[in-house]
Amino acid sequence: MSVISSLGEVSGVPVIDCNVCTRCGACAEACPTGVLQAGPDGGIRIGTETSFGCIACAHCMMVCPADAVHVTGRGLRRDDIAALPRPEERATPGQLDALFRSRRSMRQFQDQPVARELLERVVAAATTAPMGIPPSEVGVVVLSERERVRELARDTVQLYAGFLRLVDHPPILWLLRLFLPSATFRQLRSFILPLGREIVAHAKAGEDKVLYAAPAALLFYVSPYADMADATIVCTYAMLAAETLNLGSCIIGCVAPPLARSRKLCAKHGIPPGHKPALVLILGHPALVYRRAVWRNLLAVQHP
Ligand SMILES: Cc1cc2nc3c(=O)[nH]c(=O)nc-3n(C[C@H](O)[C@H](O)[C@H](O)COP(=O)(O)O)c2cc1C
Repeated sequence: MSVISSLGEVSGVPVIDCNVCTRCGACAEACPTGVLQAGPDGGIRIGTETSFGCIACAHCMMVCPADAVHVTGRGLRRDDIAALPRPEERATPGQLDALFRSRRSMRQFQDQPVARELLERVVAAATTAPMGIPPSEVGVVVLSERERVRELARDTVQLYAGFLRLVDHPPILWLLRLFLPSATFRQLRSFILPLGREIVAHAKAGEDKVLYAAPAALLFYVSPYADMADATIVCTYAMLAAETLNLGSCIIGCVAPPLARSRKLCAKHGIPPGHKPALVLILGHPALVYRRAVWRNLLAVQHP
């Protein structure tokens, strides 16, 4: 069996060089799908009857001390395997904490484009994000020109305006209150409708409350085989990478829900047919300085 991806129902193909293999068993221990199994003699058996087949996660290649395992397929190429960063190059807990606590959502940008090289570095960092099952089913449209970002914002405003024309009437809301689950209706009334009204009213006054007139943006989308969480993680990695490059950024979630309903607009903004928009990350050189950090709390932290 093979897990479906955009590349089809294909498995990775592991090959073990028996002349080099030291029979340490590390590859079998690391294999999450049980395709590689250590035999009683320490030899590695490549199983074909497993539930998922080889998902080409490459863990076997990365743990092998003898470089005896090679996997190809599912988009994985031999030269995708790279040297590990040296221990002294890795972020310390203190550095990571400083990065996390100094990052803020930025919605105010200098009137200056973001160099393509910086955007490429942000995207390159995002490619290191984990995914439910390899290969990544997340794509990104790099909007490096302010006018393209504006166009996406304008289209989003039109989608909200259409939604409000349809829904924002007392009799319709009365009906929705009857049929929607209570939490959904309350979120509609207290957040979605006011958000739509704000976005549309500000657009009429020439202000962009969707993408904040950002000079650049990354529009993340997912294939039909992705977990939506994959896009969230990729976007989060991009956001943190942007911070290290002194770029301001803000995750924007209000574009995807209405955009997903328009195939025409998805295509216009570069999303391939059958794929769904996920999150937008706006980017630019910050025009605001945060002088303090904030401690936030999770909803709950339980230790049962
Ligand atoms: C999934 C997600 C969706 C978001 N959507 C929007 C949005 O549509 N518009 C916006 O202005 N900010 C949006 N934000 C930014 C949040 O409002 C912001 O992260 C939050 O206020 C906390 O501020 P901080 O990022 O500086 O800690 C979003 C953030 C996340 C994580």
